[in-house]
Amino acid sequence: MLDIKITKTTEPKAKPEKGAALGFGKIFTDHMFVMNYTEGQGWHDPRIEPFHNLSMSPAAMVYHYGQEMFEGLKAYKNENGDVFLFRPDMNAKRTNKTNDRLCIPNIPEEDFVQAVKAIVDVERDWIPTDPGTSMYIRPFIIATDEFLGVAPSKTYMFIIIVSPSGAYYASGLAPVGIWIEDEYVRAVRGGMGFAKTGGNYAASLKAQVKAHDAGYSQVLWLDGVERKYIEEVGAMNICFKINGKVVTPALNGSILPGVTRDSVINMCKYWGLEVEERKVSVDELVAAARSGELEEVFGTGTAAVISPVGKLRYKDEVMTIGDGGIGELTQKLYDTFTGIQWGRLEDPLGWRVEVK
Ligand code: COI
Repeated sequence: MLDIKITKTTEPKAKPEKGAALGFGKIFTDHMFVMNYTEGQGWHDPRIEPFHNLSMSPAAMVYHYGQEMFEGLKAYKNENGDVFLFRPDMNAKRTNKTNDRLCIPNIPEEDFVQAVKAIVDVERDWIPTDPGTSMYIRPFIIATDEFLGVAPSKTYMFIIIVSPSGAYYASGLAPVGIWIEDEYVRAVRGGMGFAKTGGNYAASLKAQVKAHDAGYSQVLWLDGVERKYIEEVGAMNICFKINGKVVTPALNGSILPGVTRDSVINMCKYWGLEVEERKVSVDELVAAARSGELEEVFGTGTAAVISPVGKLRYKDEVMTIGDGGIGELTQKLYDTFTGIQWGRLEDPLGWRVEVK
């Protein structure tokens, strides 16, 4: 149990007006959670402080070798003012999987969840309540040793910032177009693909720019060895409905184990649908699209929630999914998840956690 010291700001900022367009990840609140790690001492000095710029040596290791990790989750407020998180224990577990891969010290899961709850509680008045809005929570850890040798740092900072946000995609729930990338790759097995670390996102930018220039909003990555099997989108995992079955690429070490991905699998099974986690080749996907068996495609992610995909492009072929609109299962999953998250629907699998 952390003993979190809270120092409140004396200069609170103006909060966004009700109905204001928030965008995603652009507005930050009055406070942040901070905790330090020192080798031999462990994690120490957990505190909530006024939001401020960081001051550290330009030799701090994070700037040079990218030893850092991050997480993403959201806080939701219902009309009674109750505040909920969605499966924060999953983010805590994934944090330590990422930390292991990057030689960052683990954080006890209960401390991670306590820290998230504490900053959300301090900033609960910042949580927006317009439809589709929430407070995005960004925990992250950076290596802070002043040293240019390539080695694990001996000191770190764990910080949580929060951001009142609207939909991740400016288009909201409208179907997005996705570019299947066959030149660049995001990750390989044995690398860091399963870890939530900045390097994976830096590696994605080149193809992302290429896709944007061609009029597509995201990149669908193929495996890094054969460029044959579907992996993930980068800002979300990917899921298909093929011939009545829900199909998603199996976790193989180079795919991020998404919390929403896991929730979709479990909710679909709970509904009695057949779910397959397996290798999906791009050739199978193209063939299913051509024959009309590819009924729905949607992305799953914390920021993106459930994001319908209206078209896929692979090499010179553009495939429209269904009628290019929002599929029935996609819409049902979106309605169910947002209903559970905002406390409007029953929570049959026990995922909602109240921040009291
Ligand atoms: C999230 O969905 O929380 C993510 O971390 C994706 C992000 C790159 C916006």
